[in-house]
Amino acid sequence: MDPTTRLKNTATAVANNRGPIFFTLLTIFLTLLFLYLFYASPAASVGPAQPIPFSHRVHAGAKAIACEFCHPYAGRSNFPGMPPVEKCLYCHNHIIANHPEIKKEHNYFDTNTPTPWVKVNYVPEHVFFKHIRHIKKDIQCAECHGAVETMDRLPRNNFLMGFCVDCHRQKKANLGCWLGCHN
Ligand code: HEC
Ligand code: HEC
Ligand code: HEC
Ligand code: HEC
Repeated sequence: MDPTTRLKNTATAVANNRGPIFFTLLTIFLTLLFLYLFYASPAASVGPAQPIPFSHRVHAGAKAIACEFCHPYAGRSNFPGMPPVEKCLYCHNHIIANHPEIKKEHNYFDTNTPTPWVKVNYVPEHVFFKHIRHIKKDIQCAECHGAVETMDRLPRNNFLMGFCVDCHRQKKANLGCWLGCHN
């Protein structure tokens, strides 16, 4: 068979099998779509997607930036604080400044929009938790948040009362605090 006939034969074969080929591709597409939706579902343990795919593994792990650099108020006030975009740009005006995700930071900065980070840690609504007293007692971030510096995306976490009470019992901290916790 000369190459032109072979090509023609292949073309006819494809034309004749258009239906089956279409359905095979459709099946592959639907399978991938299913897998995507399955793994992207909020039930997956990877945690919610963030507006910028910020990685604690890169920043707090590989680059060893201290937690307090970005969450400076954890030991000083009731709220640990989320880094304002200026703080990201402090480095990223120089580091990978043209990365598309860093351009998003500029957009937030230029439009004066706080980065809409998705909250992942929750305590029940009636519970009153403050960082300051815990940090003053030298309790490490990791005791409650795990090895954050190894995580790309933080998982969702609902703190349960048992978790709080176990440590309070162990450290002989105030258990009657539940009067204070339930304000
Ligand atoms: C103290 C410096 C510093 C600060 C502050 C900082 N970064 Fe980074 N960031 C880096 C370095 C270093 C890299 C690694 C760059 C590389 O891959 O060459 C990086 C990488 C990244 C990347 C690239 C993707 C990745 O994970 O590798 C993104 C996105 C990013 N940073 C977002 C942020 C955001 C958002 C903030 C603010 C909350 C921030 N950074 C604050 C130093 C910093
Ligand atoms: C370069 C800045 C930076 C550093 C360093 C950093 N963080 Fe973060 N942190 C962020 C940003 C931005 C978010 C919001 C996006 C996200 O959840 O990934 C965040 C979110 C968090 C949250 C989740 C808050 C919530 O939504 O409930 C915890 C907990 C946290 N960080 C703990 C830590 C700990 C512990 C360290 C040190 C091991 C650390 N962070 C170091 C920038 C930083
Ligand atoms: C004793 C347990 C405990 C320790 C220790 C602890 N945290 Fe938390 N953290 C929590 C709880 C509980 C929440 C959720 C509180 C809430 O939603 O009010 C939280 C929430 C956060 C948040 C999100 C706050 C927000 O505004 O949504 C950040 C950021 C954070 N912690 C950072 C840190 C850092 C950094 C350290 C170490 C310096 C630390 N935490 C130590 C228990 C702890
Ligand atoms: C790893 C140990 C540990 C965990 C986990 C922990 N605590 Fe504590 N907590 C302590 C210690 C120790 C003290 C006593 C601090 C002092 O005496 O100054 C304390 C004190 C307190 C106080 C009284 C001081 C204040 O801030 O008003 C409250 C309220 C409190 N914790 C709430 C909670 C809640 C809510 C949780 C769970 C989300 C929790 N704690 C988890 C160790 C822990």
